[in-house]
Amino acid sequence: MLVDAKEVMIVPGYGMAVAQAQHIVCEITKALRKRRVNVRFGIHPVAGRMPGHMNVLLAEAKVPYDIVFEMDEVNEDFPNVDVTVVIGANDIVNPAAQTEPESPIAGMPVLEVWKGKTTIVLKRSMATGYAGVENPLFYKENTRMLFGDARSSLDAVFKNL
Ligand code: TAP
Repeated sequence: MLVDAKEVMIVPGYGMAVAQAQHIVCEITKALRKRRVNVRFGIHPVAGRMPGHMNVLLAEAKVPYDIVFEMDEVNEDFPNVDVTVVIGANDIVNPAAQTEPESPIAGMPVLEVWKGKTTIVLKRSMATGYAGVENPLFYKENTRMLFGDARSSLDAVFKNL
């Protein structure tokens, strides 16, 4: 799917930090860009556990700055995205923030990944994230779950690329 895509959006969250998957993400990004796939990163302001958490990890892995975007810069582009890869993120991509007024995260801005053509979510289980709430994204028709430690899963993806 990644190789056939024209537009790929990578959305990292706390689980990318736990898995220390930023380096393999960078390798996959390079491989896709060589094949002329447009790869961008969409960064939520509270992704991870501290301000700038994702930006620090991506910079450490030497992901070029000019393909790393803030949420507001990319959120309207999801309908044009062929494959979104959510790496260890949960609350920041939860549509319930918009649709469930009683939810603890109601009103929190979220990355609207479900509007993309296909979304792949990398995590180890169906467990909730920091806010402890269910995520309807995981059950949508255009979502595929890739279970496992994000680094192991991405190592396997890279080998195939
Ligand atoms: P979370 O909602 O915490 O979700 C992270 C997900 O990563 C988990 O659901 C977990 O699922 C998965 N994960 C953990 N280890 C993994 C691994 N080794 N491989 C693959 N997946 C793994 O993170 P988020 O989406 O980044 O949202 C951040 C949350 O933290 C928000 O609720 C935010 O308000 C809160 N918060 C942020 C800050 C700042 S300043 N950034 C500070 C405090 C709190 P599995 O267990 O199923 O793998």
